[in-house]
Amino acid sequence: MAKLVVENLKYRYPLAKNLALNNLSFEVKNGEFIGMIGPNHAGKSTLCQALVGLVPQFFRGAYGGRVMVDDMEASKVPLSKLASKIGIVFQNPFSQISGVKLTVYEEVAFSLENNGFSRSEMIDRIDWALKLLNIEHYQDRNPLSLSGGQMQRLAIASIIALKPEIIVLDEPTSQLDPQGSEEVFKAVGNLCTQGLTVIIAEHKMERICKYAQKILFLHQGHLVTFDTPYQVFSHFNLEGYGINAPVFTNACKKLEVKLNNGFYPIKLDEAYRKIGAYYEHR
Ligand SMILES: Nc1ncnc2c1ncn2[C@@H]1O[C@H](COP(=O)(O)OP(=O)(O)OP(=O)(O)O)[C@@H](O)[C@H]1O
Ligand SMILES: [Mg+2]
Repeated sequence: MAKLVVENLKYRYPLAKNLALNNLSFEVKNGEFIGMIGPNHAGKSTLCQALVGLVPQFFRGAYGGRVMVDDMEASKVPLSKLASKIGIVFQNPFSQISGVKLTVYEEVAFSLENNGFSRSEMIDRIDWALKLLNIEHYQDRNPLSLSGGQMQRLAIASIIALKPEIIVLDEPTSQLDPQGSEEVFKAVGNLCTQGLTVIIAEHKMERICKYAQKILFLHQGHLVTFDTPYQVFSHFNLEGYGINAPVFTNACKKLEVKLNNGFYPIKLDEAYRKIGAYYEHR
C-alpha cells in the first residue's frame, strides 16, 4: 500500500513574491483519513496539487524538497503513472466531468479508456466504483442531470475506478448543499474503511471533526500542526488563524466542559452529553 512522505516541501508560483508552501514535512500512514484545514490562501489547494505532482509538473515555479508516494517522486514520475497510486478530486464536479459522455456508466468508462484495460477488467472496475460511491442505480442517467452531490460522487467514482491507494479531495463539497455534502463525506468515509487513504481539504470543521483521524493545519504556507482533531481543537486558538471551530466546541470551551480525556468535545453527541451533565450537576 502507498505511503505518503513529504519532506521540506517548498513552492513558489511563477512571478509570486511569497512561498505558497513553506518547508512542509509530514507523513501519512496507509488508510488514514486526513482533514486539511486553513484559512483562505493558506496553501491547501497548492498542497493538494503538489501531492499529485501537478505542482511542479503542470504549475511551474520554484520547487524544493520532495513528495514521495511509495518509491515514486511526485515531481518527477509521469503524472499518468502517479495517477494509478494517487488521485485528485477538485471543488467543482463540472470541471472534472468530461461533458461529452451521455451516461454515468460511460463517464466512469471514459477515465479508464486510455489505460489499456481489457473490456472485462473495465466492466469490473466500473461496477465496483459505482457501487462503492452508491450511484449504481444512476448508471443510465445523463451526468449533467444529476444533483451536485451525485455528480461529485460520480467524479470520485471516475477517479476511484483507476484504483489509486490515496485520494486527495480539494474542498469537494464547497459547491454542495448540506445533503449533498453529507452524501459525499459518507461515501469518502466508506472509501477509507475499504483501506483507501483519504486527504480532504475542507472549510466546515463539523465535518472534519466527525470524520478525520488527523488534521493538517496550514497557515500562510506553513504547517501549523499535524495532529489529532482533539489536540488541534483543544490547544489552538483557531479564531486567531481565521478558522471557526464547531459552535458546540466553542460553547464547551466557554463553559469549561471537557471530556474525560481532558479534551473539549468536537462531536455534537459528545458536546450534547457533556453539556447536559453540566447543567444537571449545577
Ligand atoms: N495559479 C496561481 N498563481 C499564483 N499564485 C497562486 C496561484 N494559485 C494560488 N496562488 C497563491 O498561493 C497561495 C496559496 O493559495 P491556495 O489556493 O493554495 O490556498 P487555499 O488554502 O487553497 O485557499 P482557499 O481556502 O481560498 O481555497 C495564495 O497566496 C494564492 O494567492
Ligand atoms: Mg483552495
